[in-house]
Order: sequence, then structure tokens, then C-alpha cells
Amino acid sequence: MASAVAHSITAPTCFAPKQSVAARSAVARRCRVSCIAEPPSVKASTPTPTIEESEAAVVAGNAPWAPPPAAKPQAPAGTPSVSTLVWTNLMNSEAFCVILSSLVVNSLDFFLYGILVDGMHLPSRPRRNRKSLALRNAFQETVITPANFILPLFVHEGEKNSPIGAMPGCQRLGWRHGLIEEVYKARDVGVNSVVLFPKVPDALKSATADECYNEDGLVHRSIRLLKDKFPDLVIYTDVALDPYNSDGHDGICREDGVIMNDETVHQLCKQAVSQARAGADVVSPSDMMDGRIGAIRTALDAEGFTDVSIMAYTAKYASAFYGPFREALDSNPRFGDKKTYQMNPGNYREALIETRADEREGADILMVKPAMPYLDVIRLLRDSSPLPISAYQVSGEYSMIKAASAAGMLDERKAILESLLCIKRAGADVILTYFALQAARYLCGEE
Ligand code: PBG
Repeated sequence: MASAVAHSITAPTCFAPKQSVAARSAVARRCRVSCIAEPPSVKASTPTPTIEESEAAVVAGNAPWAPPPAAKPQAPAGTPSVSTLVWTNLMNSEAFCVILSSLVVNSLDFFLYGILVDGMHLPSRPRRNRKSLALRNAFQETVITPANFILPLFVHEGEKNSPIGAMPGCQRLGWRHGLIEEVYKARDVGVNSVVLFPKVPDALKSATADECYNEDGLVHRSIRLLKDKFPDLVIYTDVALDPYNSDGHDGICREDGVIMNDETVHQLCKQAVSQARAGADVVSPSDMMDGRIGAIRTALDAEGFTDVSIMAYTAKYASAFYGPFREALDSNPRFGDKKTYQMNPGNYREALIETRADEREGADILMVKPAMPYLDVIRLLRDSSPLPISAYQVSGEYSMIKAASAAGMLDERKAILESLLCIKRAGADVILTYFALQAARYLCGEE
């Protein structure tokens, strides 16, 4: 397996199609042969000339032999012949330009355009910069590396891992063993950031979700164990009540079904501080209550956790793409939906209101969630804030690619890497993705 150091060198180029070892050595052989500027007939016994002799020979007009330009490859029979030169020369002449401008003024430009295209005067040819793998790699604007990934991990109390039906390839990890093994594998390919999601036993869920700040709770124990094994691992936590709430909502539900904002924020502050105390590096409020970033910042600072960061779920939409996640944690809301706190998928400008609030309240990182259906929102936040932007490629996005690939409809490797590259291109600095480990392996050159 490639080492974590090696990937950072190979990563920028590795999104390009890979060449087999045989193909690569064939290229190297051809290159070596054509780089030796000697006719095949030169005898090995000829003494090597000095630099001065070589220069004198060239000055005297006796340039040494070098291979002729490669023969022009043949087009298939029947290819129409077009002339580029005639029209290029004509276009460059001053007289022609004068005629051209008068013709354009006389609204004959459509007619003229027809002639020029027939004559193949095509001055802009963007394909030149896509001509070879080396050029494509040189001009690639966006690259992804394993350092850009945050791996979400589901943990449960069991000793063994248990598969998640709606997310093929993902498991609820036993916090004591499976979790450690998974993090070990991720670090091996350069993924050193994780975010934890607990599957909480039903008996510990309550209407006020107090288990969320139990310092001996599942998340807290997992953080302490991970920090003990991997002190430099970056641990993100989720701050929200839903895994602990008997109602399945991110906030405390009143009798009439209203999600109570300020009372929920009070619990979230306790949750965030308890996670910081366990050793979390970044707390990530995903609940979408108003004012929670500022309140959590104040609570953390008051307890001395001034260096614990906040990654705000800034623009989190009420999305159908969270379905598989809720199955994984058995955290579906028992009634209603989350539309009174998560954003309306039809809204764009509203993301700016959330952005301003989170910036003002002291967020360190702003998140957009989901990712692929909301690339415009990622770009909006990127262009409106100097803060780092994260994007969450959520469970539904993951399962779609997995299902289509399993059905033979997509090339899994290409679809995964393209989806992540495009999320980064839209403006995300880091991506929370269930593909983190798989994608990092691809980027390290594994199949
Ligand atoms: C809970 C939370 C959810 C996700 C992350 N944190 C679900 C929800 O809001 O209902 C979804 C992640 C995913 O779908 O991958 N606050």
C-alpha cells in the first residue's frame, strides 16, 4: 500500500487515466531511441568530439543528424480536404480586414462567416491545450488530494461492525475495534480527519436528549480512544440532538410539535463543551437552530476551549438525500419533517443570511449540505466569504453512485473521483464524504 507521504506527490496527476507499466516503458524506450541524435549507422568506435569540435561543426554548416519530423498520420479515406492557409493569410492582410469590417457593417457578416468556416479559418482552438495527457495534467485547474477529505464514521456499542443496508460498503463500527481499524486504514492513505456519528441505544434516548452531553457516552468514549491511539488525528463531532432524541428531531419538541430554539441551543452548548472536553478538535453544529454558533463559541471559550474550532452547517437544506443516514442511525423524525429548521431547497439568497450570521457569530468553517445538488450554493459561499468552505456529500449521494455502479450503469471509480473533483471546483476546500477512504486509495494509485 502506498505510504501517506507518497500520495501527496502522486495525487495531483492521478485523476488522469493511468498508463500500464508496459505502456510506460514502451514510451520510455521510444523516447530514448529518438533522443539519441545519431544515425543508426554511426560506428561505436568513432571518438567522441569535444564541445569545441561539435560547435565548430555546427558553425561550419555540418549539423549532426537528427530524426526527421514524424510522418503526418493519414486520415481515413473520404475525409474532406480543407485548406487553412489560404484563409489565414487572407485574414492577416490589412486590405482584407478593411473589406471585412465594411462587409460586417453592411450586415453581410452571416454570409462571410459561412465562407470562413468553410475555409476553416478557426483561430481559436481550445483543443490544443487538451492534446496530450501531459498538457491536460499541466493545465488542470482543480485537483483533489486525500488531505481534502473528512471521513464520516458511524459508531455503535457493539463489539463487531454491522453493515448499513442503505449504504453498501458502509458499516456501523464497533467503537472499540472496528473504529480504530477504519481510522488506521484511512490514515494509511492520507485521510487524517474524521467526523463521528453515534447509533445510540433506544433506551438512552429522551425528549430532551440529555445523553448527548454524557461524558461517558459513545461519542465521548470514542473520541478519547481515538486521541489516545492517534494524537494528531483531527476529530470533528456532530452537534445536534437527533441521535439522542426520542422524537428524532434535531431540537427539543414541544407538545404541539414546535421545535424549541433557545432551549435546544442550551443543550447544544452542553453537548459541544462535553465533546471538546473529550478531545474534539472541531465541533460541527448540524441542527440549524438560530444563534447556536455564537452561543457555542461563548460556551467553549468560557470553559477554556478557545482553540476548539466550529464548523457551522451554514446552508443545510431539508433534503431527501439524508434518507440512508437516518436509516444508519435509526434517527428518522417520529413525526413531521425538518422543514421548520433546515432550509428550503428552492432558496439561494437565504444562504447569505445564514452565512452572515455564522461569520458574525464566530464560525471557523462554513458548510453547504448536500453537495452535488447544491453546487451553486457552494460557489455562492465561496465567493461571499473568506472562510474555508466545506461541503457534505451526503448519504443519498453516496448510495446513488453505489447503486448505479453495482447495476453496471456507471464506472464507479470515475464517478466517485469526478463527483469529488466537481465539488471542489465549485468552491469547497474540504469534503465530507463516505468515499474518503476509497477515493484516497484511488488517488494513491490503488485500484
Ligand atoms: C443530523 C445529521 C444528518 C446528517 C448529518 N447530521 C441528518 C439529518 O439532518 O436529518 C445527514 C448526513 C447524511 O445524509 O449523510 N443532524
